[in-house]
Amino acid sequence: MAKDHFLDQNNLPKHIAIIMDGNGRWAKQKNKSRIFGHRNGVKAVRETVEYAAEIGINYLTLYAFSTENWQRPKKEVSGLMSLLVSTIRSETKTLMENNIKLSSIGNMNMLPEKCKKELNESIKLTSGNTKLNLILALSYSSRWEIKNAIRKIIGDGLKVNEISEDIIEQYLTTKNVPDPELLIRTSGENRVSNFLLWQIAYTEFYFCKKFWPDFRKEDLKCAILEYQKRERRFGKTD
Ligand code: IPE
Ligand code: IPE
Ligand code: MG
Repeated sequence: MAKDHFLDQNNLPKHIAIIMDGNGRWAKQKNKSRIFGHRNGVKAVRETVEYAAEIGINYLTLYAFSTENWQRPKKEVSGLMSLLVSTIRSETKTLMENNIKLSSIGNMNMLPEKCKKELNESIKLTSGNTKLNLILALSYSSRWEIKNAIRKIIGDGLKVNEISEDIIEQYLTTKNVPDPELLIRTSGENRVSNFLLWQIAYTEFYFCKKFWPDFRKEDLKCAILEYQKRERRFGKTD
């Protein structure tokens, strides 16, 4: 593992979640189409995944497409879906080389067939990898997830007194994944936009002003350094 002397190796977040925002505004600044912005976001994804693996992060969840994003213009949605297919296709080799395991959370049934197929192939191929768990949130929203969890709990006939926080967690899409210690959002927006509402109960937030396509390893490092300065109290006294 490549050690970074500035980072405290004993206080690394196990799980980092990122709301990758600002592709459209990045493109607009350059008088380009929104999809040009999305395409340029791929480099930031690559850098982030590479750096997370390098320093020994166990879980990285990337919010790539929300349930609400289906309401965007058709052209943008289809452009994003094609980009997803081509990116998974071109990056799976790198995931294998770097021992990264891919998985996804969200309503996969909503994705176009081609997308599902490419995604499932990559998930299958990388399933034995052990270094970094890369989780793509696709057609994901937290309220959708919680609603589904409730439906399944009722469907399974659980009794009222059997329902505990641990049981609820087993019904979420993040089952067996520890809660993120750090949530990063780029683009200067200070909101959660329906992402991991249950899981971020005690997560540290870090808002980065840069638009997602400009996000680099150095920015991720800054976020982790800031996280390492925080005192996490979980409601207790220090
Ligand atoms: C994030 O960038 C990518 C997705 C939500 C798919 P945006 O597309 O939201 O870019 P802005 O926020 O409009 O700049
Ligand atoms: C959140 O960004 C979703 C993703 C980054 C995938 P949005 O751009 O969709 O969120 P709002 O509309 O600014 O809240
Ligand atoms: Mg946005």
